Amino acid sequence: MRVPLIDLSAQYQKIRGDVDAAVAQVLGSGRYVMGPEVTAFEQELGAYLGGKHVVGVTSGTDALLAAAMALEVGLGSGQQFRCTREVEVVTTAYSFFATPETAVRLGARPVFCDIAEGSFNADVDDLLSRVGPKTAVILPVHMFGLRMDVSRLVATGVPVIEDAAQTLVPGIADGTACATLSFFPTKNLGAAGDGGAVVTQSAALAEKLSTMRQHGSKPKYVHHLWGGNFRLDPLQAAILRIKLRHLDDWQALRRRNAARYREQLAGLPLVLPESHPSHVYHHFVIRTERRDALKDYLSARQIDSEVYYPLALHLQPCFAQFGYRPGSLPRSEAASKEALALPVHPDLSEEQIDFVAETVRGFYRA
Ligand SMILES: Cc1ncc(COP(=O)(O)O)c(C=O)c1O
Repeated sequence: MRVPLIDLSAQYQKIRGDVDAAVAQVLGSGRYVMGPEVTAFEQELGAYLGGKHVVGVTSGTDALLAAAMALEVGLGSGQQFRCTREVEVVTTAYSFFATPETAVRLGARPVFCDIAEGSFNADVDDLLSRVGPKTAVILPVHMFGLRMDVSRLVATGVPVIEDAAQTLVPGIADGTACATLSFFPTKNLGAAGDGGAVVTQSAALAEKLSTMRQHGSKPKYVHHLWGGNFRLDPLQAAILRIKLRHLDDWQALRRRNAARYREQLAGLPLVLPESHPSHVYHHFVIRTERRDALKDYLSARQIDSEVYYPLALHLQPCFAQFGYRPGSLPRSEAASKEALALPVHPDLSEEQIDFVAETVRGFYRA
């Protein structure tokens, strides 16, 4: 039995009729940039998120960039050309590279904190100890589908952008400046290509972002702001509208799969992911010191698994100039050596999950 990490063609087969009709409708409309599909998707996702403003953009990476530009982080962001003030973005050392990349793209220094004991999310005490007068924005990440509590970050008064690329749940952007989403195809809500969004409770920020995603042009060819081409593709918006209707069911299946793993992997010498009712298991990430051997063992038995992320961000070669040394953020470094994601996607059968769990047990018996 083969067990893929994700099976997007199986997902497509289940909603094929609706997706094909939506794509045909956009192609037939002749409206290939912005338009009613993008607006409708933004409204529907905003309602799903409890009445928030949603601005659809090109990707999760651009969602972070646009959000940081709109909050005027760093050099040349949106409205003011700053080249003298030194600014910092405080973020976690354990995430996808796009998170700290946002800071350096805007001329800000990324300041990394460690993750919390027993979690893949940031250690709030460590993060807060790194916030200072130069901090322009705090950028926490909700890792692998588990939303972290950001209330103490908000209480600092420094704007908070939540990187929610992996964690689409209604609580995001509650009380923060905004949250960013990715619709990369493998995400819990994935497009058939790239896409992303910024979510906010602020009508003013949403308005600014929707102007910035079209080069800050308002009225047309007059620019009080600069931004970029950050527009969400209407074909992707049309597909995302279909998939959004299934999201709750798909997230529930991910939880069901995670619960089945928990039962069957209990008692083994490995650490299971944190358990929380709101967890949407973008990934089901276990930890073991024998991670690489387990990955090879699974792979030899046709089971895909993945290492997120093998090198902590503060040790990335391009960030060497910021002076972090191996050992400086030990929990993030340990996670990068021990974390392994098992397949948890909604199209897995119970037999496939049982096969994965039995194979993991077999590894420890061998
Ligand atoms: C935590 C995090 N932030 C940002 C991104 C970037 O999103 P995208 O690939 O849509 O640009 C990702 C995507 O994997 C992510 O996992």
